[in-house]
Amino acid sequence: GDEDDLVIRPPVVTVMGHVDHGKTKLLDALRDANVVDKEAGGITQHIGAYQVHTEVDGNDRRITLIDTPGHEAFTAMRARGAQATDIAILVVAADDGVMPQTVEALNHARAANVPIVVAVNKIDKPDADSTKVRGQLTEYGLIPEEYGGDAMFVDVSAKAGLNLDKLLEAVVLTADASLDLRANPTQDAQGLVVEAHLDRGRGPVATVLVQRGTLRVGDSIVAGPAHGRVRAMLDEHGNEITEADPSRPAMVLGLSAVPGAGQNFIVVDDDRMARQIAEKREARERAAMQAKRRV
Ligand code: GTP
Ligand code: NA
Ligand code: MG
Repeated sequence: GDEDDLVIRPPVVTVMGHVDHGKTKLLDALRDANVVDKEAGGITQHIGAYQVHTEVDGNDRRITLIDTPGHEAFTAMRARGAQATDIAILVVAADDGVMPQTVEALNHARAANVPIVVAVNKIDKPDADSTKVRGQLTEYGLIPEEYGGDAMFVDVSAKAGLNLDKLLEAVVLTADASLDLRANPTQDAQGLVVEAHLDRGRGPVATVLVQRGTLRVGDSIVAGPAHGRVRAMLDEHGNEITEADPSRPAMVLGLSAVPGAGQNFIVVDDDRMARQIAEKREARERAAMQAKRRV
């Protein structure tokens, strides 16, 4: 696209860390603490991606947050998550300290050249030791600002709702200091499937992250091996929306099948083309699977 068509977009932030260190709890707490969300009324069930607002220096700023599982089986998903993001929040439980998937997440973020903000979580616990966490990560070369490094560390409690605003501010400041986040909202949308499932009433439902362009109801899309016309879109409150701009996550209804987390989606000219591309992708996946089985 044309340089002139680029507009500022919110940072896309992946929440990573060792299993049970509190990633999902933190995301739920950030959403609950979000004033704008409260005004929209009602907390929906947990979803893997949503936007929050926060005020920094008197300006309203949006942040897109994405959850990743900490279980060791999900290495590939974390690697893809890091690729799709602008900033990583590395969650480390202050009682447990640095653990194997903490280090793995750190390595993924570094490989993807993504700045890291550390959320030292569970500081409400009696055996929490946030100084120890700082020391451990310093040994891995992730040095807190207060020790002369360039990573922001924020002590939080997802459970008690402590310092959540400080964490969001750290994310915005890190984005402003090291990133130039712009995208062209006028082109056909493309992006990433964050998660997807089969809903009894609504059929395949995919939470997608728009990375470029604007996704609209009525668009023909291909998502992994699935295709279809966007029948409806929902935001994180379950409200219907008609379009989603860059960095916005949206739940998409109308796909022919359930795509995999981490797969790409693109908007194409019409339904026929969508089906053709999807069929090609499916054939390719099937061939790859058969080749694997032969090994
Ligand atoms: P996976 O997705 O399985 O990797 O785990 P997770 O990192 O998403 O952790 P989750 O949010 O599921 O939290 C794990 C456990 O820690 C739950 O029992 C939470 O209630 C608890 N927990 C999370 N944050 C806090 C906190 O700040 N303080 C305390 N005391 N417990 C917490
Ligand atoms: Na968990
Ligand atoms: Mg979780």
